[in-house]
Parts: sequence; C-alpha cells; structure tokens
Amino acid sequence: MSLDFIKRLSDTQPILVNVLRGYAALAPTRSLSFPAELTFEVVHSFLLNDILLNPLFTTYPPSPQYQVVFWKWALNNLEKLIDSEVYMFPPKVRWWLIMPKDHEIDTQLYEHYVSLIPTTSPQTVGVKPPIPSYVTYFWESNSGFKTATLLESRTTIETGTTGLKTWLASLVLAQFLITNPELVRSTRVLELGCGVGLLGMIIANLQLSPEYSGGHLYLSDVNAEVLDRCKNNLNLPCNRSSAHPALTCTSLDWTDSLDEGQVTALRSSLQAIMPDMIVGADVVYDPTIIDPLLRSIHLGLQCKPTAMALIALTVRNEDTMAKFTCMAEQCLLVHEIRPELADTQDFWGPGHYDSSCSQTVKIFCMKVKHVC
Ligand SMILES: C[S@@+](CC[C@H](N)C(=O)[O-])C[C@H]1O[C@@H](n2cnc3c(N)ncnc32)[C@H](O)[C@@H]1O
Repeated sequence: MSLDFIKRLSDTQPILVNVLRGYAALAPTRSLSFPAELTFEVVHSFLLNDILLNPLFTTYPPSPQYQVVFWKWALNNLEKLIDSEVYMFPPKVRWWLIMPKDHEIDTQLYEHYVSLIPTTSPQTVGVKPPIPSYVTYFWESNSGFKTATLLESRTTIETGTTGLKTWLASLVLAQFLITNPELVRSTRVLELGCGVGLLGMIIANLQLSPEYSGGHLYLSDVNAEVLDRCKNNLNLPCNRSSAHPALTCTSLDWTDSLDEGQVTALRSSLQAIMPDMIVGADVVYDPTIIDPLLRSIHLGLQCKPTAMALIALTVRNEDTMAKFTCMAEQCLLVHEIRPELADTQDFWGPGHYDSSCSQTVKIFCMKVKHVC
C-alpha cells in the first residue's frame, strides 16, 4: 500500500499529518487540533481523499465507535470553517460565496457519518464497551514514513488477558530501537510477552531495512489467543513484517522456569532460538511475575555470552519496580539506559493524549553476570 500521501502531506501541510496520525491511532478528538488556519478547500480535500477514501483506512478502518466521534468533530469544524471564510466578506458579497461548489461539503462525508450513527436507542449509546479496532501507527525513518497496522482491543483486559492491546512501554522501546537499529538489525531477537505485536513489527521493519541482512525474529507469549492475534497482525498484507523471511511466533511460558519438569524444555527452546537480543515491554505488571520472568531472561542470556536484554517497564508501583531491579541485580548486570530517549515522539500513542500516561517508562539493559 503506497504511503505517498503522508510524504506529500508532510512536505506540503505538516499540520494535517498530526490529524491523520491521530485518526489512525484513534486519538481522542480533544487531543487533535483542527487545522482552522488552512483553507476550506485544503482541509476538505484532506478529509475526503486522505482520510475517508484512503485505501489504508477503507481496508483497515478505525472502529465505528471511534469514527462516529471523529467525523462529528471533523464535520462540525469544517462547517465552522466555511462560516469563517464566508463571514470574512461584507454581506453584499456573501451570497456569491455561499453558492459556489467549492464551499460545499461532499455528500460522501455526510453519508459516511450518518451510516455510522448507532441505530440503538439513545440510552444505550456510549454504554457499550469499545470493540476491537484496527489501529495504525506511523513513524518516520531515514527512508521515509513507515506504518504498522494492528487489530487491537480497546480495553485494558479482554478475555482475561492484558495482551490484546498495545501498551505504552512497547512504543517507548520501539522508539529506542528505531534510534538504535543496529541493536536488532542482523541479530537473533527474541521478544517475551509480545502481545499483539507492535514492537515485533517495528523490529521486523528494522531487520528488513534497507534490505534484509539475516536477522531472525521470535515473538513469544503464553496466551494462545494473543499469539494468534499477533500472527494475524504481522501477516496483514499492509505490514512490511508479512514479508519477513525468518519470523516465528511461538508459545513460551516464563513460569516453566520455576517448574523442574518444564525447565529443561524451556532451556532447549531458548537454546534453539539462541538469542543475541531479548526484548520485552510491559512484562512486569504483577510482582509474582518477576521471578519467573528474570529466570527466563537469565536462561536466554546464558545461550550466548554476548547476549543482551532490553526490558521496558512502565512505573505503576514503585515497590514493584524496586523489587524488579533488586532481584535482577542479584544475577544480572543491569543498567537503566538513556531515559531521555524514552519517549514516544514518533508515535501517536497514549503518551500523546492520555494524562494517565504521564507514567514513566524505564528501559533496562541486562547482561549475564554469573550463573545464578
Ligand atoms: C501488559 S501485556 C504487554 C504486551 C506487549 N508487550 C505490549 O507492551 O504491548 C503483558 C504480556 O505478557 C504476557 N505474559 C504474561 N505472563 C506470561 C508468562 N508467564 N509467560 C509468557 N508471557 C506472559 C501476556 O500474555 C501479555 O501478552
């Protein structure tokens, strides 16, 4: 799918890129600024051609629940833009301006909005839980804009797992790797607790850019539904990851490291993967998970003396974070890396609009110290 539209927009009307990225990432409209300083003609053409009729969004649309809010906001603001342009002129000439075609909103925009309005009774509107939606993340690399499109849950926990949506720590670690692509480019990478696959998609892109040079990527998770979703997302034809020749989604349970009957099989799986780099994002959300996670990281790092792990964690609870670093330091060399780079500048992710995401994300680099 061609991404020429975003290059054209960023060259000519960069302010529209933010609206487009916000729409693609389902950003709340309160976080978007309508480009009222541009002419009606420019904004109208953008909304019609680059959003409504854009093949990326017609094939992988944001949920109807999001779109109804977005298009209400866009159409209201577009109507205000017409008014502001028309009322700039004295009353005598206004009728000339109201009539011409170039100040009419295309009926396709209204028809689309009307088709989205829920047919349910007003009492139930807004009460239904949000349904899974396609979400598209854009980021800029040396070779231009790239995208990753995923089907994601819009709730924190769905069917008993936290793995069906993308978490802030994934965006932060992805940003760090985009800035440091050599860490994953031609290496064997294992992701623990991969969730729906955003970080994996970015790593796949980095391994394929500018051309594939032998990197291997293993995305692992304990939950079968999460792994299926991840696999489907990576294989969406719009995603470059679908062309990765050495990408595997595999089941891997950290708690096997605590079980004498399972640990040998876990060690063998890790030895078969032989990772140079282990990554994980938002994999500590419960203190009981710390021990098996660290044991698994340690087993994986032991496969190669040069191996390293990068683990990005959201600080939700200071005690849990302190417990994690304390336990990690017992058997691994740990240092926190360049926190000033730990942001999501390139992504229209939760960090842009959700105040609860003023949460800090820390990235820890880990290497084996000695055999525990
Ligand atoms: C909060 S989600 C993070 C998902 C993804 N890394 C992200 O940042 O968007 C935690 C993930 O860890 C996985 N997980 C939890 N316990 C696990 C275990 N024992 N072994 C492997 N994965 C596990 C979950 O299934 C879930 O996908």
